[in-house]
Amino acid sequence: MDFKWNIVQDYADLFLVGGWTTVKVTAISVMIGTFIGLFIALGRLSHLKPLRWLATLYTDVIRGTPLLVQIFIVHLGAPKLIGQSLPAMTSGLIALSVNSGAYVAEIFRAGIQSIDKGQMEASRSLGMTYAQAMRFIILPQAFRRVIPPLGNEFIAMLKDSSLVSVISLPELTMAGRTVLGSTARVWEAWLPVAAIYLTLTLVFSRVVAWYEEKLAVKPHR
Ligand code: ARG
Repeated sequence: MDFKWNIVQDYADLFLVGGWTTVKVTAISVMIGTFIGLFIALGRLSHLKPLRWLATLYTDVIRGTPLLVQIFIVHLGAPKLIGQSLPAMTSGLIALSVNSGAYVAEIFRAGIQSIDKGQMEASRSLGMTYAQAMRFIILPQAFRRVIPPLGNEFIAMLKDSSLVSVISLPELTMAGRTVLGSTARVWEAWLPVAAIYLTLTLVFSRVVAWYEEKLAVKPHR
C-alpha cells in the first residue's frame, strides 16, 4: 500500500473544514433536537390523549424510518412542497434536528420517569399545579440524569451526520468523497476522514465521561 502523504497535505484544509462543519452541524442539530425532544417527551407523558398520540406518532415515524430516507424526503421534497429548493445546509439541519428530536424525546421520557412519582405527589399536595411541579421539581432533577445519554446522542449524531453527504453538504464525509473524486486515491481520501471522526468521538466521549463523573451524586458517609 503506497500512501502519499503529500496528497493528504494538499487536501488538509478541506478535511479540517469538513470536520469543523461536522461538529457545527451536529451541535446545532442536537441542540434543536433537545428542544424538540423535551416537548415530545412531555407530550408522551401528558394526560391528554391527543397529545400523547401525536407525540407517539412522531417518535414512531422518525425512529421507524432511516435517517438517510428522511434526508432525501426533506431535501428533494422541499421543491415540490414549497416550490423552491433548500440549501443543503438547511435541509440537512432540518432532517438531523427532527431525527435527533425523536431520540432525545425517549431520553427525556426515561429521565422524567426515573424521578420517583412521590415527588410529583408531594408537589401537588403542596398546592403546585402539574405544570409547576414539572417545571420546578421534576425537570431540574431529570436534566441532570439525562446529561450522559444526551452526550451519547451527540456522539451518535457526529457519525450519523455523515449521511448528509448524500445531498452534498460539505461536511467531513463529503470531503472524503471530494478527495476521492479528484485523486482516485482510496486511502488518502478515507483514512484521514476516519481519523478525524475517531479523534472527535474520542474527545467528546472523554468530555461526557468527565462531566458524568462531576455530576455523579457522591454517596453520603
Ligand atoms: N442509523 C440510524 C438511522 O438511519 C441513525 C439514526 C440515529 N439518530 C440519532 N439521532 N441518534 O435511522
